[in-house]
Amino acid sequence: MEEYIDISEDLAYRLDKDDVLSKYRERFYIPEDTVYLDGNSLGLLSKGAEDWLLKVKDEWRDLGIRGWTEGEVPWFFMAETLGEMISDLVGAKKEEVIATGTTTVNIHSLVSTLFEPEEGRDKILADELNFPSDIYALEGILEMKKLDPKSHLKLVPSEDGYLLDEERIVEMMTDDVCLVHLPSVLYRSGQLLDIEYLTKEAHARDMIIGFDCSHSVGAAPHKLHDWGVDYAMWCSYKYLNGGPGSTAFLFLNEKHFHKEPRMKGWFGYEKEKQFDLRLDFVHEKSAGGWQISSPAILNSAPLIGSLKIICEAGIENMWMKSKHITSYFVELVEELLVQYGFSIVSPLEPEMRSSHVALRHDKGETIGQLLRKKGFVPDFRPPNILRIAFAPLYNSYCDAWKTVMAIKEIMDSHEYDEHQKYKDLVT
Ligand SMILES: Cc1ncc(COP(=O)(O)O)c(C=O)c1O
Repeated sequence: MEEYIDISEDLAYRLDKDDVLSKYRERFYIPEDTVYLDGNSLGLLSKGAEDWLLKVKDEWRDLGIRGWTEGEVPWFFMAETLGEMISDLVGAKKEEVIATGTTTVNIHSLVSTLFEPEEGRDKILADELNFPSDIYALEGILEMKKLDPKSHLKLVPSEDGYLLDEERIVEMMTDDVCLVHLPSVLYRSGQLLDIEYLTKEAHARDMIIGFDCSHSVGAAPHKLHDWGVDYAMWCSYKYLNGGPGSTAFLFLNEKHFHKEPRMKGWFGYEKEKQFDLRLDFVHEKSAGGWQISSPAILNSAPLIGSLKIICEAGIENMWMKSKHITSYFVELVEELLVQYGFSIVSPLEPEMRSSHVALRHDKGETIGQLLRKKGFVPDFRPPNILRIAFAPLYNSYCDAWKTVMAIKEIMDSHEYDEHQKYKDLVT
């Protein structure tokens, strides 16, 4: 990768000019006078997503219940259609992916099926940097199986509190572990784990392994099927730009289709016969069998538009840009901000991080608030991490340059010392 030592705004403009994805920026609504750096939390609305949301709203108005079969994408098949649309992006067979539920519900649905404890092999391995909701779900599943989470949920420790050592994860895949549940990307530091390697190691020990891919889908390519991953789930409101609380996705490797879903619901019934409304449950032999309830059509519709844009732009181009723009930002931070006490906790190798860079600073929370006052939207994760995300489709190299300059200005003016601290409810 090219070395960046040029800190001029000019370079940022030139990089934007050469960016093959720069034309996509105008297809998004960027809030006025804002440098939006929070696409890893809530992606922005695109015109394509808005069009599909409005189209389906109109179908509801004009067709009523007939929308289930007569919508442009019939609502009854929207979950499968979205699964098919996203399958290449995540390297899955189309019947291995479905748009359904929410991330946490999908963890419950998948893990409660695939976690089949036996005597002496009844533990789940996760990590102490995992997203809290994942851990709560795993604890709940253990409790439902009458296993004490204190002794049956093993958490891989992190040396520095930000990164995980993959060798340590493998070391902890001991004989008592039945299932491994990891994030593809650590939500604080942005570290991208080697999914293929960890899957191989888990399978060599006869374990089931799954990943929460919320922070990697739409930023990096995946080969979930070829890597042999057993299960995965991810939200669609981050890099997939589906909107607040938009429908999540689940992936189930076809080798598990025969298993009986443990969180059964009528939308998991054999598709052709669902409306026979029989009391004996026979599940669809695809990821669709792990659906539970009626799909949230208005929460799914925007995804048709946003996935069309992503498929058109190409995930390889997005991954290339993600690595390049975060590297550019890292260079600027090293050159201009380290002197003010910032350190980069994200991996420095571009291949090992997703599309955000985590900066650590003792006054991170206050600096984040001051950035917001200046029209920048980063986010803050306690105790001291500012996350700066670059969504490949709508963030520019000029955004990266302006952000570093704004932080430098805050530090030079010592605004942060005087700032009256207030706490946002939602960061
Ligand atoms: C990595 C990760 N997993 C799970 C969740 C929870 O998702 P949901 O609210 O859709 O269950 C989040 C939320 O941001 C997340 O970042």
